Amino acid sequence: MNKTIHYLKDYQAPAYLVSATDLYFDIQDAHTHVKAHLSVLPQQAGEPLVLNGSAQLLSVAVNGQAVADYTLADEKLVLANVPAEPFTVTVETLISPSENKSLMGLYESGGNLFTQCEPEGFRKITFYPDRPDVMSVFTTTITADAERYPVLLSNGNKVGSGTLSDGRHWVKWADPFAKPSYLFALVAGDLSLTRDSFTTMSGREVAIEFYTRAEDAGKVGFAVQSLKHAMKWDETRFNLEYDLDVYMVVAVGDFNMGAMENKGLNIFNTKYVLADSRTATDADFAAIESVIAHEYFHNWTGNRVTCRDWFQLSLKEGLTVFRDQEFSADRISHATCRIENAAMLRALQFPEDAGPTAHPVRPASYEEMNNFYTMTVYEKGAEVVRMYHTLLGEAGFQKGMKLYFERHDGQAVTCDDFRAAMADANGTNLDRFALWYSQAGTPVLDVKGRLNGSGGYELTVKQTVPPTPDMAEKQPMTMPLKVALFDAENGRPVAFRRPGSSEETTETVLLLTEAEQTFTLENVHRNAVPSLLRGFSAPVHLNYPYTDAELAVLLAADTDPFARWEAGQTLYRRAIAANETALAQGLPLPEHQGLLEAVAYVLAADGIDAEFQAMLLAVPAEAELWAERDNIDPLQVHRAREALLDLIATRFQAQFLALNQKAAQAEQQADPATRYEYSPETAGWRTLRNTCRAFVLRADPAHIDTVAEKYAEMARNMTHEWGILSAVNHNESNKRNEMLEQFAEKFRNDALVMDKYFTLIALSRRSDTPAQVQAALNHPAFSLENPNKARALLGAFSHNVPHFHAESGAGYAFIAGKVMEIDRFNPQVASRLVQAFNLCNKLEPHRKNLMQAQLQRIRAQSGLSKDVAEIVDKILI
Ligand code: TRP
Ligand code: ZN
Repeated sequence: MNKTIHYLKDYQAPAYLVSATDLYFDIQDAHTHVKAHLSVLPQQAGEPLVLNGSAQLLSVAVNGQAVADYTLADEKLVLANVPAEPFTVTVETLISPSENKSLMGLYESGGNLFTQCEPEGFRKITFYPDRPDVMSVFTTTITADAERYPVLLSNGNKVGSGTLSDGRHWVKWADPFAKPSYLFALVAGDLSLTRDSFTTMSGREVAIEFYTRAEDAGKVGFAVQSLKHAMKWDETRFNLEYDLDVYMVVAVGDFNMGAMENKGLNIFNTKYVLADSRTATDADFAAIESVIAHEYFHNWTGNRVTCRDWFQLSLKEGLTVFRDQEFSADRISHATCRIENAAMLRALQFPEDAGPTAHPVRPASYEEMNNFYTMTVYEKGAEVVRMYHTLLGEAGFQKGMKLYFERHDGQAVTCDDFRAAMADANGTNLDRFALWYSQAGTPVLDVKGRLNGSGGYELTVKQTVPPTPDMAEKQPMTMPLKVALFDAENGRPVAFRRPGSSEETTETVLLLTEAEQTFTLENVHRNAVPSLLRGFSAPVHLNYPYTDAELAVLLAADTDPFARWEAGQTLYRRAIAANETALAQGLPLPEHQGLLEAVAYVLAADGIDAEFQAMLLAVPAEAELWAERDNIDPLQVHRAREALLDLIATRFQAQFLALNQKAAQAEQQADPATRYEYSPETAGWRTLRNTCRAFVLRADPAHIDTVAEKYAEMARNMTHEWGILSAVNHNESNKRNEMLEQFAEKFRNDALVMDKYFTLIALSRRSDTPAQVQAALNHPAFSLENPNKARALLGAFSHNVPHFHAESGAGYAFIAGKVMEIDRFNPQVASRLVQAFNLCNKLEPHRKNLMQAQLQRIRAQSGLSKDVAEIVDKILI
């Protein structure tokens, strides 16, 4: 197979634009007939007209005249001789949605039809300049059987409908806003409608319509409310108002990602729409609120202003993630949301940035665009946007947003255009900030601090940006480093002055621009502990030679929740590293006196936010621990981590029991009507309870009998059920199996809850987990073709450290086999799963060989997708 790699540097403006696109879908039982009528505007006369497409081509006509002299190769239809004046093209194609298991283009799920076009799915429907810088006004006419497909939806406003003979009907939609093809959507089927409405800030009434299967209609209430909160918030915080008369959300069980922001017609994975407290955890509710908001926010950041090309994906995704993070923080808690974002970045994006698929926020090249919907583009991209916000402040940032929309509404633009708007609106130069878009790799800051003897505290910051496969030499980045000082004796904030300033302050933002810089905080005379990278002010690794005692000061007294949490995380990381050394040398494990004191402090801390307290008790995951290392023995890291957890569990068993009880009372007090429904406050208490439960069951496996007995009484909503089952999930007794089977029986008809059951099976450390996972593949509720199911079982198994990394190589072989199976029908899902092998070259030799053998086995599969090939080739180079 010959590879085509696309490069950012090769960008060329389109030779033809499309002013209007009129689509006609004739939905039949076995196939769908599509007619696309394009009004084409030549930009560069003499150039061939290139239309992307992989559908079955029936005919093509220019200005109504059938054309025969075209070429069709590599999914491109090329018309060499077209008029120099505006002309029309009419293309007819035939597609088979029910045979389409890739879930890109038009596909069937549960008897209904749905589309997914971003980034390049539209070409599976018809032939078109399928690139985001070609923006057109669309109309869509859909004809189908009225009984089988009573609901016919597309973007924009409904402008016509009617009945036809032989039980068929039609609907016509018109979207007044020009958009690229990736934002096109169509839904046809038998769906039930839940209505609401929203009055915008200018007083316009917007109809809200949620479409689900009839049996799911009772579960959309929370998502509807979330949407209304998001609409209101975007008006209040960003002064952005919705622009169509209707906002539709459709839920589908088969979906490759979370959700899609199609103009006026979002399509959502059921996982991010459907919830009630019996079937969804608090985390699910929070995720729904955040994804609903994310897709809504795209209406301005993504749809009204879109991307010039796919290299610019972070223009819309990084910015929209930043916006949804701010929304969730405003709704829930800035403190815990910020820590959660930082923890996720470290657990998932830092490893990506340090591995074979490392790429900048704005990639320089790609083979398959679907592979670039990554943690880097989304989450690191959001951190880059957050750094503008930190540097410019809320008011300056909003000035930048305003100018961005003034300049670019209705356009397809670049990350540079965004940066220019931010800079120009604030009369500042952000050129050096461009490196965040072109350099991959997580910068490392090595910081030293000292009292300089003349009334100043000196911070010396050394910055290195590590080499990545795409780039060896890096330049230092510009970034904000937020710092404060705390009194080493009493933990109180220490006031200081910035050089040249007469004002006293207790916090400041240092601007890093060089490879090495020294900053002086003046008028400091006391022995101080520096609090660094407050609020996680830049997406970097930061090393500072703290003593354990200094970390204890920050853990107890730091006024920045992230820095406070981070002090605890550093203590955990050090303890695990010490365990690892001891295990490797066959020495007894260290006693960890300092760490145990810190945990005792956290357990006893009164009046602390419950969610935050639970976060302080969370030990960093393996993936984060080995992000920067080589020659990794995953099981050794795992055992060192487990040993620390065991120590904490046994040492504080009584405290965990007591804290669980205290949290249970608080949960009830916060919920006097005992509805057990999601609220950020009750969710915090439940998170804390589930943390305690896990430690108690770890310390005392026999406690499972008590838990099993009281299960019905304890499990009042899904968060409880999930917490209890997670806590007993590693238990080797048969009780655990019985509990899981009861759970599966109770929820056998609820697909989203069954996903949880499969995840529990896959994540268990029990010795028979591989056999249980194998058996789960044949469970009546399992289907490899459903991405949620594949991720729930196989994705989760690939994160099960002891079993995926089993010394025999069985875990690797199992996942490789499933990658090959899934790749035959859904490359996008297969390509995610194969990234479980990203660790390959950092493993110790034995496992590295085992992984390489599996990667070669995958590479040899005939007909391998370019999605999977691109990833495997990057790992194997
Ligand atoms: N633009 C979508 C979002 O971030 C992402 C998305 C949904 C997507 N479905 C996809 C990307 C399928 C690639 C393929 O909200
Ligand atoms: Zn998005």
